[in-house]
Amino acid sequence: MRTTGISEKVYYIGVNDRTTHKFEGMWPLPMGVSYNSYLVAGEDKAAIIDGVEVRHALSQISHIKAILGDRKPDYLIINHMEPDHSGAIKILRAEFPDITIVGNTQTLGMVKGFYGIDDINTLPVKDGDTLSLGADTTLRFALTPMVHWPETMVTYLVEEQTLFSGDAFGCFGALSGAVLDTDMDTDPYFPEMLRYYSNIVGKYGTFVQRALAKLKNLSLSTICSTHGPVWRSRIGEVVDLYDRLSRYEPLDNGVTIVYGSMYGNTEAMAEAVAEGLAEEGVRKISFLNASVTDLSYIIAEIFRHKGLVLASPTYSDGLFPPVNAVVDAIETRGIKNRITALVGSNTWAPRAAKLLGERIDENGIERVSDPISIKQSATSTDLENLRELGRTLARRLNCE
Ligand code: FEO
Repeated sequence: MRTTGISEKVYYIGVNDRTTHKFEGMWPLPMGVSYNSYLVAGEDKAAIIDGVEVRHALSQISHIKAILGDRKPDYLIINHMEPDHSGAIKILRAEFPDITIVGNTQTLGMVKGFYGIDDINTLPVKDGDTLSLGADTTLRFALTPMVHWPETMVTYLVEEQTLFSGDAFGCFGALSGAVLDTDMDTDPYFPEMLRYYSNIVGKYGTFVQRALAKLKNLSLSTICSTHGPVWRSRIGEVVDLYDRLSRYEPLDNGVTIVYGSMYGNTEAMAEAVAEGLAEEGVRKISFLNASVTDLSYIIAEIFRHKGLVLASPTYSDGLFPPVNAVVDAIETRGIKNRITALVGSNTWAPRAAKLLGERIDENGIERVSDPISIKQSATSTDLENLRELGRTLARRLNCE
């Protein structure tokens, strides 16, 4: 893709990746992903902010040369060291050997750790430090640890109220022609922001809240994150979404039903719960087979909806492994503020219901009743009990 001017001094020099199958080796990328990199060209100095993944290094370099011509970039500012943004450092440095790497002490340690290079010009920065690139071009740094790694920071171009936010406010989805949100339909990126946040950053809600508090008094005209569109017209919505998600606040009173089923018996139980929910007026129901739907979409729906139904067979005296993976993911992210209903099934050893109850309790998540445990196939009485479980959950949600 070509370079794009975001302002007279700020340029987009990032790349699209539509070939990587799974981000971090785990998360599917049906819309691809962009690795956003920016160039701020001041009167005296030029700075690259954020990098690209190693396979895209040459594209980034050609973008830099297209803008700067014979001038060389003076600084590489690293807001975040995850290799989707730092992978091209060695190649960039080979091309521009005099470049100074700007980062905090943790960043610079990781530059050595990942890439084995410490014979470089570096400029360590602390929270609140500034760097002038010339008249009316002042960069200010703010440390935002654990959004999404310990070294993460953001960079603010003071005179243009432009925030280079690292992963914060980012989303999956390559950029299809335009870079600024004003020049595209950004609606398709919002579900991908939910999936990106909930899976990648979802564990670090407390730290995101701290970062948001730190940034609260900044005027923001433009947000340049490391993934997805550059935000200008929808800044309020994007910041609000990150704020709600990092407080583990559901986006609606719908229900996510996650079930596992080998031969359809547990699926029939989950369907009965869904019928009860629908009878009591729940209209947003995400009904997800844990064996079929990718975990990342399940986690996103759990972040979206207030209600959660888990239905699992007993398997090898434990939870059915695909459902177990979902419960693990809930635990890892410390998801809270949800109301659950639980169903366990078994053929001879009634373990699943007990385990679901214990694990939801351990994580401090509310449940509307004791888990329902059903042996082999649900009877008509069992099905009615499951419908009533759905109705109970719906009534509880409707009171919220
Ligand atoms: Fe886009 Fe945490 O790296």
